[in-house]
Amino acid sequence: MATVDLNQVTKEFAGGVRVLDRVSLHVDEGEFLVLVGPSGCGKSTLLRIIAGLDDATAGTVLVDGESVDGVPPKERDVAMVFQNYALYPHMSVRDNLAFSLRLRHVPTRLRERRVRDTAELLGIEELLDRKPKALSGGQRQRVATGRAIVRQPRILLMDEPLSNLDAQLRVTMRAELRRLHLEHRTTTIYVTHDQVEAMTLGDRIAVLADGRVQQVGTPHELYHRPVNAFVAGFIGSPSMNLAEVRVTDTDPPALDVGGQRWPVLAGHAPAAGPVLLGVRPDAFSWPPAATAARLDATVVAVEFLGNASLVFVTPPGRPWHAAGNDAGAPTWVARLDGRVTPRVGERVALGVEVGSAYLFDADDGRAIPAEQVPVPA
Ligand SMILES: Nc1ncnc2c1ncn2[C@@H]1O[C@H](COP(=O)(O)OP(=O)(O)O)[C@@H](O)[C@H]1O
Ligand SMILES: [Mg+2]
Repeated sequence: MATVDLNQVTKEFAGGVRVLDRVSLHVDEGEFLVLVGPSGCGKSTLLRIIAGLDDATAGTVLVDGESVDGVPPKERDVAMVFQNYALYPHMSVRDNLAFSLRLRHVPTRLRERRVRDTAELLGIEELLDRKPKALSGGQRQRVATGRAIVRQPRILLMDEPLSNLDAQLRVTMRAELRRLHLEHRTTTIYVTHDQVEAMTLGDRIAVLADGRVQQVGTPHELYHRPVNAFVAGFIGSPSMNLAEVRVTDTDPPALDVGGQRWPVLAGHAPAAGPVLLGVRPDAFSWPPAATAARLDATVVAVEFLGNASLVFVTPPGRPWHAAGNDAGAPTWVARLDGRVTPRVGERVALGVEVGSAYLFDADDGRAIPAEQVPVPA
């Protein structure tokens, strides 16, 4: 097991495109850190730099406190699972698993035992004599994971290992990777663009966007206390609703939310003028609770989910959404009780608990802190 430290890692590709911009990050011994961010934000590039498959333009990678700059991949004792699994097609599963041990001249008896133990751990004992082409996607994924952990590396790097699997299998494999980590405690850096995967797998999550680490924290910290509108919109599903509204120049100031006046939260001190308002889909009630502020809106679509309905409504101001976030439609969404939902076209007054709303600077997106609400442990 090992620690990993990234110190101001910068990467520019030919033509001067800066993909990573002074990325610093500490990963603890035995930690499962998830690196999440939109497609193209540099996640794979960063993993390749840690593995030694690519060089940083500037900055340092330290493993157990020692720089590994210039150390070839093989000598870093780092294993990587690639998105496409990269199994050797002409080799059996057994030989795929044994390959890295052979390369390291591990004695036959020990090698066979490790292969057997790993196959057992991943439930692929019956597949040892098959070739990769005779395996399902989920089985290939298991073999690729097995091939990485069989030699018990100091560090395990995983690059979107579940993204080629169907939704149901992804959920199963997620739980399996979690169990595997609890058993082995190998320091792991796991890359995904899927925030649900990040939330469910990570001890901590680092959100990467625009080449920079936006925020590092536990899933709870990122969800409850996002440092900026990007993280707020990226973490959570459906995404936090964000729109530009106005702070009035009255005393005391209020929020003008589509013509409705909302009180400004305790401790919030926004200047009069535009501000980004954030409301999570779960913060709405309908019919509105007596204590709630009102949002007048028109229903534009309803998705019935059984236990809940997602009700899409017109936003109270100019909608804002995080780049790379799929939920980019110019609507707000409320998650309401599935038993009573308004109809498409209906004009509704939704209730919002103002204490659960967020404010962000309209220019730079930085969170305007309210009175500290304790984050659940
Ligand atoms: N070898 C390369 N040469 C030039 N540009 C590259 C190279 N590899 C990646 N890029 C660019 O760097 C950016 C980040 O890529 P990548 O790390 O693969 O992102 P992610 O894994 O987050 O989707 C992308 O815009 C990609 O086109
Ligand atoms: Mg990638």
